[in-house]
Parts: sequence; structure tokens; C-alpha cells
Amino acid sequence: MTALSAFTHILNVEDARNAARRRLPRGLFEYVDRGCEDEVSILANRRRLDAIALSPAVLVDVARTSTEAELLGKRQPLPLVIAPTAVAGLVWHDGEIALARAAARAGIPFCVSTQSITSIERIAADSGADLWFQLYVWKDRRRTLNLLDRAWAAGAETLVLTADTAVSPNREYNLRNGFGIPLKASWRAGLDVALHPRWAVAVMLRALATSGIPTYAHYPAEFRTRLGREALSDEVSLAKDVTWDDVRLLRQRWRGKLVVKGVLRVEDALTACSHGVDAIVVSNHGARNLDCAPGPTEVLPRIAEAVGDRLEILADSGVRRGADIARFLALGARGVMIGRATLYGVALGGAEGAARVLDLLSAELQTTMGMLGAQKLADIRRVEPSL
Ligand SMILES: Cc1cc2nc3c(=O)[nH]c(=O)nc-3n(C[C@H](O)[C@H](O)[C@H](O)COP(=O)(O)O)c2cc1C
Repeated sequence: MTALSAFTHILNVEDARNAARRRLPRGLFEYVDRGCEDEVSILANRRRLDAIALSPAVLVDVARTSTEAELLGKRQPLPLVIAPTAVAGLVWHDGEIALARAAARAGIPFCVSTQSITSIERIAADSGADLWFQLYVWKDRRRTLNLLDRAWAAGAETLVLTADTAVSPNREYNLRNGFGIPLKASWRAGLDVALHPRWAVAVMLRALATSGIPTYAHYPAEFRTRLGREALSDEVSLAKDVTWDDVRLLRQRWRGKLVVKGVLRVEDALTACSHGVDAIVVSNHGARNLDCAPGPTEVLPRIAEAVGDRLEILADSGVRRGADIARFLALGARGVMIGRATLYGVALGGAEGAARVLDLLSAELQTTMGMLGAQKLADIRRVEPSL
């Protein structure tokens, strides 16, 4: 069955989101879906994207448009990368493999999170996808470098250092829902699971019957605490002292492409250039971390102008339509990362659900380009805001 025939009732990302909401326990759905603190920035991301108008050229032959892009030296049919999302494997059994398969089918990379439930080795073996690896630096740098050796050996040639999560974000809904990692038993969480039997059977019982309570697959074996037990060892908790010195170290040690994710300042983009970084992701982490952060759309044009072609720019946060992809490209991004949209897809139907979402975004992008008279991605233009 193709993705298109399996989920014909899902017509856009919002449909996938609603289906995911019905399927997942509330604590897990909100972990995926919501923002942080007062959730000002999640709404603002949407408003800022909506405010960007694209400029249509008329009477252009759009019988054959191309969404082909080149990211970090590789040509791909769409300017997309599936973003790293921790615990995708809780949303669907082997959810990371499902996301990677959908990415492979679409011909785009899948970025594996440090906090993945499925190991990069298994994802590589079972998906055939072009894998990138996202790094959260652990306090113990030696262990961090060992993790990178593992990622490289599994075939990841692009390393994405996430730079925008210096401390733990404040997400009160997780506390209210009793949802946290490590997973903790509570009557509220138990009731939540009981009310979502499809998820309980397809994900939780299946995990218990095969590999046990889901764990962070990349944590060193001797420290790999089950999510159901006490907090992870201090050595592999996330470092709060990650600086440009770490970027320098990574640049020396990593043979492949190096990407810094979560840049929102022109100065930081320029510092990334001077550290030999190959690309940055202009992102506010999907509005999950800092509620008073600017949206990527506000800073992207200035960053793009300042860095020129010294490094490549990707962007993310808030993409729900193909037109949003076009908007980020019009502001200066070369590629776009997709976080929640494909997670909703995987929650409703594994690889096929995620593939359905990618198909929809691709079709919407092509429609937008046709309407804009854009034969290729570089033809997409914004309407310049009046001063
Ligand atoms: C459930 C969830 C988990 C995430 N985990 C990570 C992570 O482990 N590492 C990381 O760099 N970003 C993580 N992100 C952020 C995404 O990589 C991406 O920046 C963000 O989701 C983009 O916004 P969007 O969801 O609106 O597309 C996560 C996002 C979500 C929704």
C-alpha cells in the first residue's frame, strides 16, 4: 500500500496532528505538540510565518517545476531534512526507523537525535536513509567523542550540534501531565495510557514484550538507565558549559560536515563561519525552549545577508504547509527542517504516516511554486515589507 492510498483522509498537517492527538496519551501528545512557559513564541512563530507574503510572477511556464535542492554537497528532490526529535520511538514502535524510512523514500536526510530511543546502528541497518547525527554534549567530553565515533561508524557524515538548549527548558504541562523522561509511574500517567489502548498495545506493550521499557539508545551501556528508573548518571547529563571551544574541538575531530543548530544572532552566524562550520540551522527549536526568542523569520534575512556563501543556511520552527517551506527559502534558507509535522505523521501510521505528511508538504510546495511562477526553488521571492 502506498502512503497516498493508506491515509487519503489526511489532507494536511493539521489533519495528521488531530489524528495524533486522538492516538497518543495526552502527556506524550503535549510533549510533542506544545511550546514552553506561556507559549507565546509558538503562536508568534505561526503569526510571523503567516505574515510573509510571496510574490507571484505571472505568465511563466510552470508545466515542469523542480523542487530539487543541493544541501551540503548532495542533490535531493526536496529542500527538506527530517529534524532530530527526542523520543520519536515513544510515538510509534521503532518510530525513528519509521521516520528514517519515510525520509529515504522521499530522498531526504533524517537527523537522528542523541536522545533517540532507537540506536543509530539499527536505524542505519533498517532504513537505508542518509543519516545525520544530532549532538547534545554530555558533561563527559570523552564519552561524547566516543558517541561521535559510533555515529560516524554507522554512516552519519553530517553532525548537527544543537546549541540552543544550554539549560533544561521550562514546560509546566509536562509536570501537570506527569510526563517526563525518565518515565515515572503515576496514577495520572497510568490513566492516560489506559485511555489510549491502541498506543498502549502498539508501542508500550510491544516494547515491554521485546526490549523492555524504552531507553535512550545512545547512552553508554554501563549508564543506560531505563527511562522508568532514576535520573541518568551525571556524566551523561547535558553539559551547561558548551561553548565555541567545543565547536573548535568538534571541527578538529569530525571528518564530515558540521552544522550548528539553533542560531538566532548575526554575530553567532559569523562566529560559526570563522570556526569552519559548514551550515547553521536558524531555529528557535520549534518554540520549545525560550518563550521570548525571536522567530527564525525575523532574523533569517539579516543572517543570510551577513554570511553570504560562507556557509549554508537551514531554517526550522513552525512549518505546517508547503508555503512555509517556500517562505523560509524566500528569506534566505537553502533547506528546511521538519520537526512536529512528520512526528504527527509517524504517530498516526509509522513510516507510511510520515511519508503521507512529506507527500502533502511536497505537493503543497509544488502548488505554491506553480502559483508563484517559480520554476525552481531559487525563483521564489517574498514581497518586500514596506518600511
Ligand atoms: C518532540 C520533539 C523533540 C525534539 N527533540 C530534539 C532533539 O533531541 N534535538 C534537537 O536538536 N532538537 C529537537 N527538537 C527540535 C526539532 O529538531 C526542531 O528544531 C523543531 O521541532 C522545529 O519546529 P517544528 O516542530 O515546528 O517543525 C525536538 C522537537 C520536538 C517537537
